[in-house]
Amino acid sequence: MGTITKLLDEKFNLPSHDDPQSSCPAPKRKFEHGGYTFTEINGGDVHIYFEAESEAGKKFAKGTRSMHSSVRLESEHEMLSSIGEHDHISWSTEYLSDVQCIGLSGLLIMSHTGVSLDKVFDAKDPLVLSNDDIVSTVIQTAKALQHTHKKGIVHMDVKPDNITLNDDGDAKLIDFGIAKRYRDKNAKSLLCGTPMYMGPQQLRGDRPTPANDVWGLGATAIHLLTRELPYAENLSHTLQGSDAPFPLYSAPTYNKVAMCMKFRPFGNALLKSQEKYEPNRCSLAEIIETGEQYRATYAKK
Ligand SMILES: Nc1ncnc2c1ncn2[C@@H]1O[C@H](COP(=O)(O)OP(=O)(O)O)[C@@H](O)[C@H]1O
Ligand SMILES: [Mg+2]
Repeated sequence: MGTITKLLDEKFNLPSHDDPQSSCPAPKRKFEHGGYTFTEINGGDVHIYFEAESEAGKKFAKGTRSMHSSVRLESEHEMLSSIGEHDHISWSTEYLSDVQCIGLSGLLIMSHTGVSLDKVFDAKDPLVLSNDDIVSTVIQTAKALQHTHKKGIVHMDVKPDNITLNDDGDAKLIDFGIAKRYRDKNAKSLLCGTPMYMGPQQLRGDRPTPANDVWGLGATAIHLLTRELPYAENLSHTLQGSDAPFPLYSAPTYNKVAMCMKFRPFGNALLKSQEKYEPNRCSLAEIIETGEQYRATYAKK
């Protein structure tokens, strides 16, 4: 990992997300604003997360103290508004920019859609998220992405942290913070998030295309099914600019995907999602179709 981080730093000279304003004192852990009672859950380098209670029920909110990141939150709100409601996409209800009084530069409030897969997933306990659950989540996320792409938007950051699951097994795609309009000729890939789930074209900073999300979904599915992180060696290979076809799969990984999936066509679609060249990558429709065939044949009712 150390080498990869160094390569990333060298190649992309990653910007710091925060500006000097981020040294503002932390907001109160619990406060009232705009008809909501906010309770801080936790905060990362960029965002602070809250549960927001109102008469309408429980919501999730993502805020920031940095001006730079508030632009990203506003863009997320704008993307979600363009995408519109979908069964498997979290719906953003409000973006508040006038929140300096609570120590923030921007606050995005959306429906609370459950727990993200990175928190549900336990690499050591296959019962927590069974293969049936994983296939169903992958199908739902693929449908969310199909809808997103129809609206001319690529998500660009598909990974377990950005998919939530509720108690009814209902998956929602979240976090459109680095989503891009792929028909926009000037759209550029922004390298932030987790490069482990990004395909070579995105890592190289090529123009965003829907194939980026196919890769992200495939890498996510393979991670969940094999319980192993995607391929560090591929990443360093891409960053070093090598043009040689990279060893996308070691034989053991390939076998593991095949073995995890009693149903070959679905396993094969996932493997195809990791084709180095975009035109060879499978389609979301292929993932959905083979996933549904798998569920019809094997899933426990
Ligand atoms: N609508 C939501 N409902 C429930 N949890 C959420 C929701 N949106 C985000 N989260 C949780 O907060 C985490 C960070 O949110 P995310 O939108 O991915 O922000 P970031 O841009 O900081 O990655 C997610 O991984 C998930 O655990
Ligand atoms: Mg995220």
